[in-house]
Amino acid sequence: MKLILLGPPGAGKGTQAQELERRHHLIQLSTGDMLRATIASGSELGKEVKGIVESGALVPDEIMIRMISERIAQPDCNNGFILDGFPRTTAQAEALDKMLSEKGLKLDHVIEMSVDADVLAHRIGGRYSCAKCGAGYHDEFQKPGVDGLCDHCGSQEFSRRADDKPETVKARLEAYEKQTAPLLPYYRERGQLRSVDAMASIEDVTQEIERIVAVG
Ligand code: AP5
Repeated sequence: MKLILLGPPGAGKGTQAQELERRHHLIQLSTGDMLRATIASGSELGKEVKGIVESGALVPDEIMIRMISERIAQPDCNNGFILDGFPRTTAQAEALDKMLSEKGLKLDHVIEMSVDADVLAHRIGGRYSCAKCGAGYHDEFQKPGVDGLCDHCGSQEFSRRADDKPETVKARLEAYEKQTAPLLPYYRERGQLRSVDAMASIEDVTQEIERIVAVG
């Protein structure tokens, strides 16, 4: 199964991608996570993209297309993957179509996570993740079972993202509206777009996505 989760910052793409990964043994391809790992590595590319990511703007298409194209070619993607954060521009969507058709593959689902703009800052503001395994949490909506202990790996170390500051979140939301929202009609016109109500609880959103992927 190959699917895209599409939605604004804080819609819950990463949360649901982790759930799909666990349930269906798919690979989560989060371009945000890939960029943060590249930045943390201190490589030349990491230095080049650090300022862009921390300003809330989008990284240039050619960098992102190369990154995803190399990742999709890895053998662990053969069983399927969830694209979380890619594509984000029409140029990226067109490049993805080309990449998949060259490999004789096609997308099974493009799932829009539809959410009211006024809840996004609150979701992002309360977000943190396990510093060891990356599992996502929220101060209010998704606490670990035991306070201060990761449910998945037991680590006691957590971190918050550098681009989750309110001024950067504003720039990220603007980038979404301007550059990524046009992908909704792009996939709707191709008959590929399904929408879920991402205002519902995390568990209910998971169930809605499960109903879509069960149809095949
Ligand atoms: P990226 O890491 O992709 O960030 P994003 O798209 O801004 O999305 P987020 O990770 O903020 O939100 P999410 O939808 O995953 O929400 P989450 O599940 O965490 O990108 C970061 C940056 O990298 C970009 O700004 C750009 O610079 C660059 N970049 C990345 N990809 C790129 C590309 N393709 N091209 C160019 N540049 C690129 O949920 C948020 C919180 O809410 C969590 O704490 C969660 O617990 C909680 N939550 C989730 N669902 C619910 C719910 N239903 N109810 C209540 N709380 C919920």
